Amino acid sequence: MPCLVTVGGFYGDEGKGKIIAYLAKKDNPAVAVRGGVGPNAGHTFTFEGKEYKVRMLPSAVLNPTTRLLVGAGVLVNPQVLIDEIAKFHSDDRTFVDSQCGIIEQIHIERDIGEDYLKSKVGTTGTGTGPANADRALRRLKLARDIPELSLYMEDVSNSVNYALHNNETVIVEGTQGTYLSLFHGGYPYVTSSDVTASGICSHIGIGPKRVDEILVVFKAYVTRVGGGPLENELSEEEARKRGWIEHGSVTGRRRRAAPFDMELAKKAIRLNSATQVAVTKLDVIFPKSAGLREYTKLPEDAKKFIENVEGETGLKVTLIGTGREVYDVIDRRSS
Ligand code: IMP
Ligand code: MG
Repeated sequence: MPCLVTVGGFYGDEGKGKIIAYLAKKDNPAVAVRGGVGPNAGHTFTFEGKEYKVRMLPSAVLNPTTRLLVGAGVLVNPQVLIDEIAKFHSDDRTFVDSQCGIIEQIHIERDIGEDYLKSKVGTTGTGTGPANADRALRRLKLARDIPELSLYMEDVSNSVNYALHNNETVIVEGTQGTYLSLFHGGYPYVTSSDVTASGICSHIGIGPKRVDEILVVFKAYVTRVGGGPLENELSEEEARKRGWIEHGSVTGRRRRAAPFDMELAKKAIRLNSATQVAVTKLDVIFPKSAGLREYTKLPEDAKKFIENVEGETGLKVTLIGTGREVYDVIDRRSS
């Protein structure tokens, strides 16, 4: 499995970060490369009791031998990136495409200052939309123009294609989720780029024939932050009762919640040509599955849920998240 693409199946916050951190530890990839929009993403994972968050670096950062790449389609906030590199001591293994777009203060000001973006779309206010707009207008600064980033400059597309040519294991990390895609989500309640598997591959510069596996990540229930429709949305009170209240890792906003949506899941599988499925936070809807790492030990209702997803989608649920810790995963890839 040299080239695996991970992609969110709903509205972001499916728990991709934790699944990627697990794969990084387990599969020991030579390269992890981030696609997606930019620092509007927030990936969280817990390892040995300590919680980590990344917004710019790949979530595979937990593996100290994995090379960490950021693709040309990703917007970089230099300060956020430099702080993360320092925090994870990854300056000798982080590489940024010289053509990554740069978010400046003015983009953040426009993102939080425009009522349409703030109140209607409900953006994260991290400047990504205005920066991508400037990129389309051909007036955005690129990473190669920023002296503080000179240490990390690379042609990421070349590096990834070269790694694949040499049969090295590569994890391609998508961010956000399928229904936040600028093209395939519910416009205008979307992010500023295509974040389906094809979009992610375009961000990093590999062609569709280079991909071996596409893992679509669903959470066991659906959450959404910001504006836009959410089918079967629960009241705050009901979501709280079920223990489904979450808060955004970038903005701290309360996430709206709804039950697992099979129709959304099936369409996400088509849009991404997914080959396998991960389901995260199974322990939130079936508390007795908390911390389990063997499928046979799951309670019957939890197994039924997984089997229903498999029956409806026709894909195998290869990875199941059962807790916060990176290793709280049922890994069914070899069975
Ligand atoms: P923007 O990406 O900041 O422009 O925000 C556009 C929409 O996408 C808003 O509804 C955001 O809440 C949502 N969004 C952007 N990034 C993420 C993410 O990483 N997780 C969840 N929602 C996101
Ligand atoms: Mg997130």
